[in-house]
Amino acid sequence: MGKRIANTIESFGYATTVSTRAVEAVQLLRTGRYGLMTCDIEMPDMTGLAVIRLVRAACPLLPVLMITSNSELSTALEALRLGAFDYVVKPFKPSDIREKLERGFAVALADEQRERQVDKLKERIADRDRQIEAGREELRRLNRLFKKGVLDGLGISVNILSRHNEALADHSRRVGDISLRVGVKLGLRGDELLNLHAAGLLHDIGMLALSPDIAVAMCTHGQLDRVEKTAYLRHCELGAQIVEGIERFQCVAAVIAAHHEYVDGTGFPMGLVGDAIPLSARILAAVEDLDTFRSMNRPPDEWRDPVARLQDEAGRRYDPAVVSALLDALADEAAGPREVVEVAVTELIPGMKLASDICSRNGMVLVGEGQLLSADMIERVRGLLDTDLHATPPVRVERAVAA
Ligand SMILES: [Fe+2]
Ligand SMILES: [Fe+2]
Repeated sequence: MGKRIANTIESFGYATTVSTRAVEAVQLLRTGRYGLMTCDIEMPDMTGLAVIRLVRAACPLLPVLMITSNSELSTALEALRLGAFDYVVKPFKPSDIREKLERGFAVALADEQRERQVDKLKERIADRDRQIEAGREELRRLNRLFKKGVLDGLGISVNILSRHNEALADHSRRVGDISLRVGVKLGLRGDELLNLHAAGLLHDIGMLALSPDIAVAMCTHGQLDRVEKTAYLRHCELGAQIVEGIERFQCVAAVIAAHHEYVDGTGFPMGLVGDAIPLSARILAAVEDLDTFRSMNRPPDEWRDPVARLQDEAGRRYDPAVVSALLDALADEAAGPREVVEVAVTELIPGMKLASDICSRNGMVLVGEGQLLSADMIERVRGLLDTDLHATPPVRVERAVAA
């Protein structure tokens, strides 16, 4: 039967190859270039259905025409389901074969065109994915540059503060650092920590708009006359006004404006109560008072034991959760002698304190010694260092000595 079909097909001007063994036929298909295959529903070594499965796996687009008899029609229909494009019932006329061949070639052409379109579509999707990834990488790069700009700007602001009053600048650095640790303990992350740290560093920047004598008094004995006190009460609002001009710092301005509000409503300037005060401002209120009274030459009598005073005021002046986190942070600080250890850049975690500068390969200081690391700083450092972080020299950080 194979030879007869081959002769018929050749009479239409096509070249043929005949094989009576299914395995051999599939091998021929794999190594040669064929436009169509005819297959008897029963081969000597395999059923026609098994042959179709093999051909579909080896040459998915090759059109297969089944040759069948009337008694095998149900098997022929199963062959169509498996991927044959048509069947011819024996005995057949040459014109039947010709019409099927032309349809088979048309099917193959359509399949090939569809396959090319699918390939083009896949390539376009891959192109789009590459563009999206390039866009994301650019956004990450701009974000790193932006955050570096923010941190540089904060450093400049604290330097300006130190020209006004060195003790006030030191107080601002401590409030920034301690607030950051409290924020980490309260589960703040990402931009929340960056904003909290910024608000801590800048919380008293409104003092720049006041007489330098007021800052000196507040950093030493806390005694102000009536006029000075009236002016002092405005430093929150003035600080917020200085910062709110920077669009990125709108929420930082809101925290600065409220950094002397107490949860029981006895703070200033608005007398806000409870959750009406932003969490970061509730943190600053407790840290601000603690540091102010710890560093004064003559703190008020009730603040001679600042930690006990903090506990007393938990739930009154201060948010109890903030006091608890602050006491935790103080306990960490007082946990005895600390040692300096080296850790890989990939092992840095928020709350670690740097024992030496982190520098880029060309020696530029990325983050300075003594800095308490936030998640954003760690991300920025990793971004600014080489992409192969595992090849970067270890970083020196402080940690408590194990008991
Ligand atoms: Fe203040
Ligand atoms: Fe302050």
